[in-house]
Amino acid sequence: MASIRAALAAGRCCGVARLAAAQRVLPAAARGTQLAAAAGVARPSRRCLSTVSQAAAAATTLSREEVITDHPFNNVTDSIFEKIGVNLHQQPAHPIGIIKGAIYDYFDQQHPSTFAKFDDLQPLVTAKANFDEVLVPADHVSRSPNDTYYVSPDVVLRCHTSAHQAELLRAGNSAFLVTGDVYRRDSIDATHYPVFHQMEGVRVFGPQDWEAAGQEPTAYAEAELKRTLEGLAKHLFGEVEMRWIDAYFPFTEPSFELEIFFKGQWLEVLGCGVMQQSILDKNLEPGHKAWAFGLGLERLAMVLFDIPDIRLFWTSDQRFLKQFKQGDLSTRFKSYSKFPPCYKDVAFWVSDSFTENNLCEVVRGIAGDLVEEVKLIDDFTHPKTGRTSNCYRIAYRSMDRSLTDEEINALQEEVRSTIASKLGVELR
Ligand code: DAH
Repeated sequence: MASIRAALAAGRCCGVARLAAAQRVLPAAARGTQLAAAAGVARPSRRCLSTVSQAAAAATTLSREEVITDHPFNNVTDSIFEKIGVNLHQQPAHPIGIIKGAIYDYFDQQHPSTFAKFDDLQPLVTAKANFDEVLVPADHVSRSPNDTYYVSPDVVLRCHTSAHQAELLRAGNSAFLVTGDVYRRDSIDATHYPVFHQMEGVRVFGPQDWEAAGQEPTAYAEAELKRTLEGLAKHLFGEVEMRWIDAYFPFTEPSFELEIFFKGQWLEVLGCGVMQQSILDKNLEPGHKAWAFGLGLERLAMVLFDIPDIRLFWTSDQRFLKQFKQGDLSTRFKSYSKFPPCYKDVAFWVSDSFTENNLCEVVRGIAGDLVEEVKLIDDFTHPKTGRTSNCYRIAYRSMDRSLTDEEINALQEEVRSTIASKLGVELR
């Protein structure tokens, strides 16, 4: 799950022209009411910023027509549509739900009745909320339809839970946790899946907070953030060594990543920082400071529970699900089977519009969760013609059963013919 920061560092270029301001998703009024009601306050007050509650109404289920349209910008596939509304994070005995619950417990113990919790906000959001309101630059790679699922130029499947920061501040929440499914077009391997789950945390402070501590607002928020997240890491992972790494996110300044030393290596746990003042000033009365963090639940669950492949989160196989118990962080997953992978190569002359994410989308659309990895194994440009040839190795493997040769050959044939017809490449 390439983070926004990583994508920026990778320096890939975004092909999206600046998009018009977004209009729809939920009627603005209804959405505002839902969020404000959940927060239990109408407007943020300067003095008492704390709010309590669970999210109020359940998100409505989206129909296929609302997500897959014939708009030329639409790039949502059926295999993505099928994931909407599954809400693994709402299943308390699922590893994703267990991690969510453990983080809730931590915040409730540290700050009783302080953090409002939202876990059913619709994944369909405006491009404005997903990008503009959290200051993602107009030419940022994450805005590209190669990286993000667009329903229309103005509406996307959120690519991060940060998409809800601004609206929740406007609705009067001053401390909140948002958990939800997020969607990104990406490559395929054991740790990448186009749908995963994030939790976002935000806490707003007023002058009374930093004045009582005798600190400058930013220094106060930074210290409080680090204290809070170090405590969270200990709550999840026990007494581990930790370090703070300077980072870049468009929505925070300064920005950090927290790493822990776990099972013999340094692991990135989350991204965070002091929220950009302009986000606060646009959505709150003046005079506040805040911190924010975002973390990936799959990543934490894979590390904590020894889960080797991200596809396992989506299985309905009881041999997986039965191993986990609500509230229990001590489970170490035991593989119940390991069927051999079957590798198939496909080589082609690429076209100008070819991207690896498009290839992965095609393979995923045909093979579903039977595809384990799609890996570039050869890339050369012909010295005379200047044409570029790529060879990709596709690993097919089921988590639950053996696959037959016929089954895999049929999938591979379909992959070959579809990439030739849809991606404009020439098979070799
Ligand atoms: N939205 C970031 C991502 O998806 C994660 C993140 C980083 C969230 C820093 C934050 C933050 O709130 O402060 O990569």
